[in-house]
Amino acid sequence: AMDSGVAKQPITDWESYELELQERIGIDQRLMSVVIARAKKNPKRVVFAEADNRKILKAAQIIRDEKIGEPILLGNKEKILALIEDNSLDLNNVTIIDPMEEKVMLRKFGNMLFQKRQRKGMTAGDADRLVTQRNYFGAMMVESGDADAFISGLTRDYPKTILPSLQTIGVKPGVNRVAGMYIMNTPKGPYFFADTTVNLNPTAEELVEIISLTADAVKFFNMEPRIALLSYSNFGSAQGEISSKMAKATAIAQQKYPDLVIEGEMQANVAINEDIQREMYPFSKLINKKVNTLIFPDLSSGNIAYKLLAELGNSEAIGPVLLGMNKPVHILQLGSSIREIVNMVAIAVVDAQSNGTP
Ligand code: ACO
Repeated sequence: AMDSGVAKQPITDWESYELELQERIGIDQRLMSVVIARAKKNPKRVVFAEADNRKILKAAQIIRDEKIGEPILLGNKEKILALIEDNSLDLNNVTIIDPMEEKVMLRKFGNMLFQKRQRKGMTAGDADRLVTQRNYFGAMMVESGDADAFISGLTRDYPKTILPSLQTIGVKPGVNRVAGMYIMNTPKGPYFFADTTVNLNPTAEELVEIISLTADAVKFFNMEPRIALLSYSNFGSAQGEISSKMAKATAIAQQKYPDLVIEGEMQANVAINEDIQREMYPFSKLINKKVNTLIFPDLSSGNIAYKLLAELGNSEAIGPVLLGMNKPVHILQLGSSIREIVNMVAIAVVDAQSNGTP
């Protein structure tokens, strides 16, 4: 019932996909082309939690046709096959798994989940029940090596979707908190925004960790991170909890990562506009460096900034790229487009090639 009433659309091949993209946003896709080319060199098995969905199936078709990855579809087989047929897709011999029918895998995953959670209040019965849910089952497939990357979140809110992955796959060794990053493809080039999806109100120390994860991710896209910590004030021009938090995080991060270009706290326009820095703040480390990475004080500011820019700013948002997970997991934004899903899959495949997340 979910997708009824949607007109049949021809399959989008990769070329028309790229063209459509360029027409719609009028900027080139160099950044993602590089990622997609890298993905194609060594495609990986990508498990989709929400395969009973037209957009996921179309994305699966594209990633298969373009040899970006091999989809594994989770959900009710009849429903998925009917959707494939209704949308004239060609997904012959694709792997479809209905968790409810996979008694052997369910037993294995139930045991694994119980092992992980038995000292966190979970009973064996709870674990057996939870792994029948696709967000647990899919994460467990990646955790156990039955798949290489996990994509979910198109139809369910972010907190409910990410928790099973946090409980099963968890964070990379040495990482305390995961964070979400968006790549904003703007007319002035790509900008990396974090944290836009996970941490509601990070402390200065947590912001330092977000900076480190984000810097690694920017390097993953073959760019040198040049980082501004944003606030409503410039270098102490206004007092307040947030501006001092950002100033403190800047100081700690500059000391901890002397090789990175890190500056703050500063207003967004000052970070982007070097003329203002030259005139007013000639000591800024970002002068002649061209900032490309913006760190936000909290989830409200990060989330609002990227969504406004995406809707009003002639910019495409790629993400959210989940940073710091121990295996490739990405949680889509509710209602993502087919193109956004394909982009996330390409990023997840490249993650999986290096056996870690960005
Ligand atoms: N990084 C790593 N692990 C985490 C994090 C984190 N940022 N947050 C929670 N966890 C872990 C906890 O350590 C805990 O592990 P444990 O059970 O093994 O001890 C587990 O996850 C559950 O912890 P809780 O405290 O119960 O989880 P919490 O209530 O903090 O929920 C969540 C975590 C869902 C990420 C929460 O912080 C949240 O809702 N964030 C906002 C998400 C959101 O709404 N984003 C905006 C929309 S996204 C978009 O626009 C695309």
